[in-house]
Amino acid sequence: MQTSNTGAPFHAPALLQEVVQFLDLRPGGRWVDGTLGDGGHALAILEGSAPDGRLMGLDADGAALERARQRLQPYAGRMLLVNSNFARIAEAVRAEGLAPVDGIILDLGLSSWQLDVAARGFSFRDDAPLDMRLSASQEVTAAEVANTYGQEDLARIIATYGQEPQARRIAQAIVRRRPIATALELARIVESVSPRRGQRVHPATRTFQALRISVNGDMENLAGALEGAAGVLRQGGRLVVIAYHSLEDTVVKEFMRRESRDCICPPERPQCICGHKARVRVLTKKVVKPSPEEVARNPRVRSARLRACALL
Ligand SMILES: C[S@@+](CC[C@H](N)C(=O)[O-])C[C@H]1O[C@@H](n2cnc3c(N)ncnc32)[C@H](O)[C@@H]1O
Repeated sequence: MQTSNTGAPFHAPALLQEVVQFLDLRPGGRWVDGTLGDGGHALAILEGSAPDGRLMGLDADGAALERARQRLQPYAGRMLLVNSNFARIAEAVRAEGLAPVDGIILDLGLSSWQLDVAARGFSFRDDAPLDMRLSASQEVTAAEVANTYGQEDLARIIATYGQEPQARRIAQAIVRRRPIATALELARIVESVSPRRGQRVHPATRTFQALRISVNGDMENLAGALEGAAGVLRQGGRLVVIAYHSLEDTVVKEFMRRESRDCICPPERPQCICGHKARVRVLTKKVVKPSPEEVARNPRVRSARLRACALL
């Protein structure tokens, strides 16, 4: 297993063979990895497009970007790494004169390093400040959300972004037990309302997901990234997205479905008035999931869902 210079193993890239196949790698192309992370997919892109393919890598987390830069150093001559949110993917690509590009990968969520090592309050095992920001330039932390939002707002966030059936009771417990300083404290509060009862998934998983999505504006950023990506792909260029929860997967599925249709009028309308034109062809008629072997090797990928399309 390859390790970073801190000795921690690199994040194992999800659905690697499938990503390579859908990106249709070849020499001379230009590719964008919008979620560089530990650079596992980026490394495969650089190798698969050798000797002269170019890669632009983005990550909102500056520390993640620097880790990947070290790992990908042997390819420094044909890559460009930018500390940016993927919501601004189109601006980043155009600013470097790289448009149109041959393929874009978005591997959503967090890397193992961010969850396990970075101690930034993403994990409910973290006795670290409840932060959860991807970038230090963001103003609102998860602690601020947990300690200052009204109970109704908290319940709505936990229900909507966490799909948590106990959202109201959890929000009430959070408000009652303020101030909350660490991720571990929050996890214990959720556990006190919704005890573990032997299930494999920690009871705080959905609440943590909800706070992370709220703090980082994940849903808005994803919508911006999909639109931006479609704007900078060449004809035939590929967009590959891996989502890890159903909220994000639904956004990706609906984007690809809508953009593959010539008309998006409601079905009861006898005549088209929307003037919408198809922009993409969906390449994954069925969502692609990791094989049982991959899940056995790397249980974290069990919820991964890959969808791909090509620009018309
Ligand atoms: C699952 S990891 C990617 C792992 C990577 N594919 C690999 O093989 O190592 C997701 C990465 O996307 C980054 N990220 C999440 N949301 C982002 C956003 N809105 N803009 C840019 N990067 C983002 C995270 O900081 C994290 O490093």
